[in-house]
Amino acid sequence: MKPRGILLAGNWKMNHGPTAAQEFFRALPYSKKPGATMRIYPSFLSLSTALDSVNSAGKEIEIGAQNFHAEKSGAFTGEVSGPMLQEIGIHQVLLGHSERRQYFGETPAVILKKTVSALQQGFEVLLCIGETLAERNAGQTQAVLTHQLESTLADPICAAAFGTSLHLAYEPVWAIGTGMTATPAQAQETHASLRSLLTRTLGQTSADAVQILYGGSVTPSNFAELLACADIDGGLVGGASLKPESFGALWNLIPS
Ligand code: 13P
Repeated sequence: MKPRGILLAGNWKMNHGPTAAQEFFRALPYSKKPGATMRIYPSFLSLSTALDSVNSAGKEIEIGAQNFHAEKSGAFTGEVSGPMLQEIGIHQVLLGHSERRQYFGETPAVILKKTVSALQQGFEVLLCIGETLAERNAGQTQAVLTHQLESTLADPICAAAFGTSLHLAYEPVWAIGTGMTATPAQAQETHASLRSLLTRTLGQTSADAVQILYGGSVTPSNFAELLACADIDGGLVGGASLKPESFGALWNLIPS
C-alpha cells in the first residue's frame, strides 16, 4: 500500500447533467478498498444529484466542486460560493485547473486567493499545476511549476495546509485530452522534483504527506504503470472518468 494512500479522482468538466450523473453512479461498479479514495468532481448543477446517488447507494465516494468563488456572497453574477456548496454537503474543491487558467483567465494570484479562501472555509483543495508543450520543449518545466506553486508555498495558510487539506495534481497541459500521456518515467521525475520543492520549503514531514496526483490522458491501459511510481499517489482523470466501465476499471487497478 502507498504511504499516502491513493486517490482516484474524476473531473467531469462540462459533461453529465443530473440525469447522466444519476445513471453513472447507478452503473458504477464500486467496492471499498482500504487506503484508497474515489472522488468525482461533477458540474455545479449535478452536485446534489451526485451526493444523493452515492449516499442512497451506500457508496463511499467523495463528491467535490470543480471551482468556486473566493468571496462568500455578493454581486458576482454566475458564480457559486463556498457557503452555498457547504449547505448542500460539498467539502472538496478542485482549483487551478489548466482550463480555468487558459479559458477563464485565472492567474496565480486569483488561484491563490481562491485556495486561501477555500482552506479558511474548511474545504479540502486539490490544486492543479502543469506546463504546456512549448514550455516543456524549452526545458522550462521546473521553472513553470515552481512559479505556479511559489505564491502558495509562501502563504502561511496554504503552507500549513499542505499534506492535510491541500494536495496537488500535476497535469501536463500537453497530455490533457490528447491521448499523449507522460511516460511513467517523465511523470515520476516531475513528481519527485515537486516533492523535493515541497521538502525544501515545508520540511520532510509535510512534503511526505502531500498526495501528488497525475492527470493527462489516464486510461485503464496506462494507469497501473503510473501508479507503480513512488511519487504518484493517484490519478485525476477527465475522459476516462465519464463512463462507469472505464472509471470502474481504473478503480480495479488500484492494488487492495
Ligand atoms: P483527460 O484525462 O481527458 O486527459 O483530462 C485530464 C484532466 O484535465 C483532468 O482534470
